[in-house]
Amino acid sequence: MKQRTLSTSDGSVTTARNNTVNHQIVLNSRPVGAPSPHDFLLQERIIPETSAGEVLLRTLYLSLDPYMRGRMSDVPSYAAPVAVGDVLVGSTVSRVESSQHPDYQPGDRVRAYSGWQGYAVSDGTGLTKLDAHMEHPSLALGVLGMPGFTGYMGLLDIGQPKAGETVVVAAASGAVGSVVGQVAKLNGCHVVGVAGGAEKCRYVVDELGFDACIDHHSSELPAQLASVCPKGIDVYFESVGGAVFDAVLPLLNTRARIPLCGLIAHYNDTALPPGPDRLGLLATTLLKKRIRMQGFIIFDDYGDRYGEFFAQMSTWLKAGEIKFREDIVDGLENAPQAFIGLLEGRNFGKLIIRVAT
Ligand SMILES: NC(=O)c1ccc[n+]([C@@H]2O[C@H](COP(=O)([O-])OP(=O)(O)OC[C@H]3O[C@@H](n4cnc5c(N)ncnc54)[C@H](OP(=O)(O)O)[C@@H]3O)[C@@H](O)[C@H]2O)c1
Repeated sequence: MKQRTLSTSDGSVTTARNNTVNHQIVLNSRPVGAPSPHDFLLQERIIPETSAGEVLLRTLYLSLDPYMRGRMSDVPSYAAPVAVGDVLVGSTVSRVESSQHPDYQPGDRVRAYSGWQGYAVSDGTGLTKLDAHMEHPSLALGVLGMPGFTGYMGLLDIGQPKAGETVVVAAASGAVGSVVGQVAKLNGCHVVGVAGGAEKCRYVVDELGFDACIDHHSSELPAQLASVCPKGIDVYFESVGGAVFDAVLPLLNTRARIPLCGLIAHYNDTALPPGPDRLGLLATTLLKKRIRMQGFIIFDDYGDRYGEFFAQMSTWLKAGEIKFREDIVDGLENAPQAFIGLLEGRNFGKLIIRVAT
């Protein structure tokens, strides 16, 4: 068996057999603006050992999500940042390799929060056992997991869509947006997506069943959006900000609702956007039209309703009423480039790293 030298967490050096190596990606430096490959470091550590009450988890799939950009920054937020030198955080689908925990057997598949690494030890906190017969366990990170739950709750609880209303969905081909638009269609709405590029827009209309989709790269975005929203906009599901929000704002109807889910166009900003201060325009529009704009953090605000979502989404999936698309990248070592691409719109569907099989 191949031997190699490894540094351990206390800085000492040892040798390990190949099958004892835990590959990890740690935060090497805090990005300024867009993350670069140098902000990530791939390191090797020895697979940790379990104690009584613990399980050893093998990461099968790692979810890459936009919120991770926030964890790389030390600007105060709703969650603590990852420390420089620490393993980046993230949800995983993992397999129990060995267990000293009464509730878990080797071979069980769980949703965990193991982060960007091949193995992790857990005492069971926060683990969710997955159905052993689940054909696509990676769906627990996408349409049946946090992003699907976000789209479902944000639209239905804050957006309050009614049949016949117009719903506009930003980042429409993505993990959250694809669910928002399809659930809005199931509620009888006129649904318009905004996405980056002709291929994503085609998918949004032809596969997901939206009524229209506008490419946000177009210089005609405001006029094109207006032409497919002849009755104005009643619900705008905001995930982007920037030019998309600028195009939406004048089209909002009286008593429109805006679930404020994300602002991905601004996650790499290092200063306020250029141009005139538009706070006055925004506030005046909200006031005159009595618009409700509400931010939410999915598990903080709706964690107790996950069961309701899971049951409904499972039914829709079985009936073929909700479609999904995954963008699966092989190899933990490719996670940094994939994540950088997520912030530039290079993913097409829910971005997932296949770490092991
Ligand atoms: N509040 C919460 O609890 C919560 C939970 C989950 C997610 N979110 C938010 O929901 C949003 C979508 O997340 P997701 O997981 O579904 O990601 P996603 O849509 O699968 O992927 C991100 C997409 O954002 C778009 N994008 C990236 N940079 C952009 C830019 N500068 N301008 C316009 N669009 C840009 C790209 O799509 P195009 O190529 O189509 O532009 C990219 O594919 C994010 O803002 C995320 O932070 C919030």
